[in-house]
Amino acid sequence: MFKVHAIASHRLPELLRIMPKAELHIHIEGSLEPELIFALAQRNGVALPYADVAALRSAYAFSNLQSFLDLYYAGASVLLHEQDFYDMAWAYFLKAKADHVVRAELFFDPQTHTARGVPMAAVIEGLSRACHDAQAQLGISADLILCFLRHLSEEDALATLEAALHWRDRFIGVGLDSSEVGHPPEKFSRVFARARGLGLHVVAHAGEEGPPAYIWSALKDLQVERIDHGVQAIHDADLMKHLAASQVPLTVCPLSNLKLCVFKSLAEHTLGQMLDAGLCVTLNSDDPAYFGGYLNDNFLQTFAALHLNAQQAYKLAANSIEASFASEEQKHHFMHQLKQCFQSFSEQD
Ligand code: HPA
Ligand code: ZN
Repeated sequence: MFKVHAIASHRLPELLRIMPKAELHIHIEGSLEPELIFALAQRNGVALPYADVAALRSAYAFSNLQSFLDLYYAGASVLLHEQDFYDMAWAYFLKAKADHVVRAELFFDPQTHTARGVPMAAVIEGLSRACHDAQAQLGISADLILCFLRHLSEEDALATLEAALHWRDRFIGVGLDSSEVGHPPEKFSRVFARARGLGLHVVAHAGEEGPPAYIWSALKDLQVERIDHGVQAIHDADLMKHLAASQVPLTVCPLSNLKLCVFKSLAEHTLGQMLDAGLCVTLNSDDPAYFGGYLNDNFLQTFAALHLNAQQAYKLAANSIEASFASEEQKHHFMHQLKQCFQSFSEQD
């Protein structure tokens, strides 16, 4: 076990900023900033029902997941061409680089685009070209995870997966997102079985707003390798024990939970309890352009609100690396970088 030295609380923010970390829960369409939405709308001749950037930004006041999703899908309507998808992802990678993200696994929602007549090729080729350039130009290891929209049918998800298989080598897994309540994981058992059979990684949103039963279903019916969000697990003692024993990772997104009113304040967030219970928790930004912060903002604000310490910072960063779908060799390298970062930081004391 790596020994983490105590660090003076005034130095903790700097450590949080510079420590190498992986981001495992970022919807790339949720990184579309209002400025880029307007620039792409102009480039593509798309009319927006907002006068300007400020008017759009002021509409970002959400009461629950659905109130956010309505705006999120509207924002994505400006994406038409391969270059648009590239530009969106590249803007994210520049932010990720500034936050010392060494590994990023990007969710994307093909159905949001193909339903508007955008070719699957434009979506996947634009995003995967940006992932390639992130590695080549920024040194960020990046891969794509294709998400199915759970408010649509399983048939639609199956057809989407088949269409995407032409680019089988451009994505590493599948996920499940969009409106959770009323759309339990078991609705997608067949398409997840098909994905697993193809050797794809499998993850699913569960327990963001939905009950602990949805987390059980994601684990048992979909056999997911990670749970996205999972914060509702706290209401089921058996599930908490199971998650601690199995170490199935949870990709928690505190600023998202705050903005979607899952918790009234960050001080009431249960991240600390989840860590104390021994769960394999990671921190992520979800939809940073909409929720008021990228990955380091999530770390800084959550650590301040919950009074977390350097040991917990190390644990969260280590969890993110170990829970990623990077190769064992890459993970080993990132863990080495993480330990070196903590070592040299404590020597400067
Ligand atoms: N939950 C569900 N679906 C989503 C989210 C989320 O937080 N962000 C983008 N699609
Ligand atoms: Zn999400």
